[in-house]
Amino acid sequence: MPHRPAALLINGIAMKEVLMDAPFLLSASPRKGNGDTIARLLCQWAREAAAPGLPQLHFLRDVHVRPCTACGFCALHPGRCALDGVPADQAGTLLRAIRRAPRLILIAPIWFYGPPAQLKALVDRAQTFWEAGNARSTDTPARTAHLIFTAARQNGPRLFEASGLILRCFARQLGFAVPGEPLTLRGLDGPDDLQNNPAALEQLRCWSRTELGW
Ligand SMILES: Cc1cc2nc3c(=O)[nH]c(=O)nc-3n(C[C@H](O)[C@H](O)[C@H](O)COP(=O)(O)O)c2cc1C
Repeated sequence: MPHRPAALLINGIAMKEVLMDAPFLLSASPRKGNGDTIARLLCQWAREAAAPGLPQLHFLRDVHVRPCTACGFCALHPGRCALDGVPADQAGTLLRAIRRAPRLILIAPIWFYGPPAQLKALVDRAQTFWEAGNARSTDTPARTAHLIFTAARQNGPRLFEASGLILRCFARQLGFAVPGEPLTLRGLDGPDDLQNNPAALEQLRCWSRTELGW
């Protein structure tokens, strides 16, 4: 069955067309680095495995996201944000597209023990959904989210803790269950480090087979 594209033109700014029945693969690093390598490999393996519903890749750096201003509008107007329709803001469109996806795969670097600012801005915009009380939509209970984190440090037992909490909470607001533990890849500092790290690539390969089935 052909994929059904959703119109994602907002305020004259075109976002990539979203395929509504494809897993939503969101890479959150602002640079072309390890996250891009992960995203490319996951797409390649899904194709090779002829996975049902090939993932559609989106880069958060291509999307305009204004930060939440705590104006309280969404508390008074459930499901709406005062920034919806503001020029150069696509957060609402992106969040609604993610909310329709059957599966979310989120790739993010660790920055100061948490998500990068661009991703945290998107997370905060999900407050609209929290205020509307519509986490865990019951119409599609099998929707799952999967988290992948990269970091430079080789040690630090709590390195991924904050991002894990924040992004699990985010995914749940968008109606996803988060069944497994995040995949955590360490020792990746430069943008090409993953490509030159066979152990980390193997870790990713195994995780993809086990968690995603590709
Ligand atoms: C602003 C900033 C903060 C960072 N903070 C951390 C950190 O707290 N711990 C860590 O291990 N790596 C940290 N890093 C390194 C990144 O997590 C690492 O390079 C990651 O692999 C980048 O992923 P990317 O190549 O997809 O952008 C930081 C990098 C930047 C730019």
